Amino acid sequence: MRMLVTGGAGFIGSNFIRYMMGREDIAHIVNLDKLTYAGNPDNVREWEGNPRYTFIRGDIAERKLVSHLMKAYKIDTVVNFAAESHVDRSIARPEVFVETNVLGTQSLLDAARAHGVAKFVQVSTDEVYGSLGREGYFTETTPLAPNSPYSASKAGSDLLVRAYHETYGMNVNITRCSNNYGPYQFPEKLIPLMITKALANEPLPVYGDGLNVRDWLHVEDHAAAVELVVRSGRPGEVYNIGGHNEQTNLEIVRLILAELGKPESLIRHVADRLGHDRRYAIDPAKITAELGWTPRYTFAVGIRETIRWYLANETWWRRIESGEYQAAEEDRIYG
Ligand code: NAD
Ligand code: TYD
Repeated sequence: MRMLVTGGAGFIGSNFIRYMMGREDIAHIVNLDKLTYAGNPDNVREWEGNPRYTFIRGDIAERKLVSHLMKAYKIDTVVNFAAESHVDRSIARPEVFVETNVLGTQSLLDAARAHGVAKFVQVSTDEVYGSLGREGYFTETTPLAPNSPYSASKAGSDLLVRAYHETYGMNVNITRCSNNYGPYQFPEKLIPLMITKALANEPLPVYGDGLNVRDWLHVEDHAAAVELVVRSGRPGEVYNIGGHNEQTNLEIVRLILAELGKPESLIRHVADRLGHDRRYAIDPAKITAELGWTPRYTFAVGIRETIRWYLANETWWRRIESGEYQAAEEDRIYG
């Protein structure tokens, strides 16, 4: 397999590449990443010089570049992780979400079609389904009802991917995963933000009443599911990915504080997020029945491992906090 992975310097993309580099039938992985604030060369440093791996700094919306890469590297499989991914940023500044998530995906689809790519996997999110009440789960047939500019841009890209299958017969899949956690997650998202703030004895900002529910999945379990979809997903199908692990934000924050031996007095209830979705929960029955996927991690084990990873890799997140990780890359490229 000769794979183009986009957004591979980010959280899930870099974990996916780590997962796939161990597979013998992966002849080459090209990682195309713009290195926005969320893209971190430290996440993919370990493969520098590996003949099966190439890093290209660039934008998925740059049509000529994307087309050139698919041709030059004889790409047969595209896995699109590249995205603007943070809801709060999308509320503050929606434009770039449309540029990358919608137009960027379309640019990839056009190039993949032009070069006869055999499989296109769009990595999406359960947030396209909107918000649940106390009961029920998102299934693949739940109507799309995105509430944030982020989730609306992801839903837009999903619809384009679907249309390229219906119209041009492209072999596509869309995966919709619940909230991920694990190593290398940028410390703007709930879990790494709370770990790093607690370690610094800083207040932990909990939006609203803290009773919003997210369905947490370890990033390695997500990577395993995406691999199955890449290899065996039925053309045109959507697969929801989630491990039935619902927690309120307050439960998560309290667990992190307890693990780190920090007091709950660090918790600060702050103004709620605009349009804050109340509950997400995935029904993974389809991917389990069709592709045999089940999560390997329990949350109890996964969250402890993740906390230990942040404790052991303080240099990694300190370089992010100081902005040093990007300055170093600029120096390397521009001298
Ligand atoms: P992330 O923000 O950590 O990483 C995104 C990566 O994409 C970064 O490396 C960034 O530099 C790159 N990128 C952004 N714009 C680009 C562009 N125009 N061209 C090329 N590269 C660009 O995000 P993540 O958490 O790893 O999420 C990866 C994907 O998974 C996203 O599509 C997201 O919507 C989806 N997803 C995330 C979660 C989650 O919990 N984090 C859950 C479900 C789905
Ligand atoms: P986040 O990690 O941003 O993921 P998403 O919004 O895509 O689900 O947020 C997870 C939950 O945590 C969400 O309900 C918002 C909440 N949250 C806080 O309470 N405080 C924070 O500082 C952040 C970043 C999130």
